[in-house]
Parts: sequence; C-alpha cells; structure tokens
Amino acid sequence: MQNKVVVITGASQGLGKELSLQLAKLGAKIALVARSEKLLVEVKKEINDNGGTAEYFVCDVTDVDAINLTVSKIMDTFKTVDVLVNNAGVWTADYLEEKDKNLVEKTFMVNSVGPINFYKAVSPIFEKNKKGHFVFINSIWGLNLPETKDGLVYTATKWAMTGFANALKYKYGGTDIKLTSIFPGPFVSNIDKNAGDDFGDDESKEMKTSEVADAVIYALNATGKMQIGDIELKYTNWNS
Ligand SMILES: NC(=O)c1ccc[n+]([C@@H]2O[C@H](COP(=O)([O-])OP(=O)(O)OC[C@H]3O[C@@H](n4cnc5c(N)ncnc54)[C@H](OP(=O)(O)O)[C@@H]3O)[C@@H](O)[C@H]2O)c1
Repeated sequence: MQNKVVVITGASQGLGKELSLQLAKLGAKIALVARSEKLLVEVKKEINDNGGTAEYFVCDVTDVDAINLTVSKIMDTFKTVDVLVNNAGVWTADYLEEKDKNLVEKTFMVNSVGPINFYKAVSPIFEKNKKGHFVFINSIWGLNLPETKDGLVYTATKWAMTGFANALKYKYGGTDIKLTSIFPGPFVSNIDKNAGDDFGDDESKEMKTSEVADAVIYALNATGKMQIGDIELKYTNWNS
C-alpha cells in the first residue's frame, strides 16, 4: 500500500476510520471523506501523529456536485487516486421510517446513489491510468436473504449496491481495474445509535472493525492481475 492514494468515504468513525488508520500505517496516503469536520480533523491528526499522510474532505455523499468537487480537490492534493473505498452508509428501520417520511429516500441516497456517484467521479481517473481498485462495503444482507422484519429498506439499498457492483464486473472484465465487494455480518460500531436506534446486540457475536479492516486490506494487497472479488465475513457464532 506504500504511497497508494486511497479515498475512503465515511472515514470519520466506525469501519471507515479504522481502515483509514490501518492503511495509513501501511504507508498509504488517505483522503478522508465524511460530513463531520470535527471528527475528520481528529482522524487526520491521529494519522499524522503516527507519521502517516492524510487529508480530509468534508462531503455529503448524497450531493453529486459535492462529490465531483471533492474528487477534484483530492486530485489537486494527491494528483491521482489508486483506490476508492465506498464505505459511507446509514442504518434505517421500519419504525424510524414511520417517524421520518423522507428516510427511505435518504437511506437510498447514502447507501446506493452516493457510492454510484462516487464511482462515476473516480472512474475516469482509473480508466486514464488503466488501473485502480473499487471497494464496496456492502452487508451480509446484500448477499444472503436476511432474516429481518425491520431492515427491509436497508437490505434493499445494499442489494442495489450488489447489483451495481456485479454489473461493473462485466464493464471492467479483462482490464486491470479491480472490484471487491465486502459483505460483513454485524460488527461493533455506532451505526444503530447514529440512526436513532439501538440494536442492543450481543457484542460477543459481532466482529471488531479491525477484523473487517483486515479483510479489506487482504483484498487490496492482491498483487498483479489477482483480483479478490466478493468476501463474506461473520463470526461463527452469529447465525443468520
Ligand atoms: N456495523 C455493522 O454491523 C455493519 C454490518 C454490515 C455492513 N455495514 C456497513 O459498513 C459501512 C460502515 O458502517 P459503520 O458501522 O462503520 O457505520 P458508522 O460508524 O455509523 O459510520 C458511518 C460513516 O458514514 C458516514 N456517513 C453517513 N452519512 C453520510 C453522508 N450523507 N455523507 C458522507 N458520509 C456519510 C459517517 O460520517 P458523517 O456522519 O461524519 O458524515 C460515518 O463516517 C456502512 O456502509 C454499513 O452499511 C455495517
């Protein structure tokens, strides 16, 4: 990963933050993207304090103009992009949607439309360079039929990402532009609380963000023409 420019959306907390810290330790230059400037400043500082390179870019991934401006600022700063990790995501549930009539649309905008627009902004760079790596942080609910009564819309947003990433396999087949989709089961983060929910889950059944980040880095480290495509992750004691 030495000197590779990695763009990570949702880098202010949770998996995106952990992945940013780990990749920076491996020598990657990190473009940290999220809405919360306060948290992004802290992540950048932690990376810099450990001798790594990072810059932050405040961007709401539901805003296509903001995405295009952000990618152009990233190019000004780092001159290229080697990896895009589409990680930003939000949780929703039926009872939350009852309280906010726009929540279905908002969740699709963050989890499905945002990653597509980020892909569109970065793909000309990869196509010009004739190489690059798109990573989609999906969910195990975007791979298997979920056992859920209240995560229907969240599941649909992730299946939209599955469909898009699968379609891209055909577009980039035979090129050195790589695609990886990560399908994690539950891992410990504040995704529920950030949505105004509380899963109250048994954390002994949930992965750590560091373990999920390890799997992403495993895929990024594949050399030459080797492409690690779809990765499902879960603890053995989580049954769904
Ligand atoms: N946690 C799990 O159990 C689990 C399981 C499977 C898959 N996933 C997926 O893993 C990814 C990361 O989740 P996490 O658990 O780490 O969640 P998290 O801790 O809540 O972090 C979500 C990140 O997304 C960013 N984000 C949210 N809305 C955004 C927007 N409109 N524009 C830009 N950034 C936005 C947040 O930053 P700001 O608020 O600062 O913008 C934050 O950095 C998500 O795609 C999630 O669906 C999570």
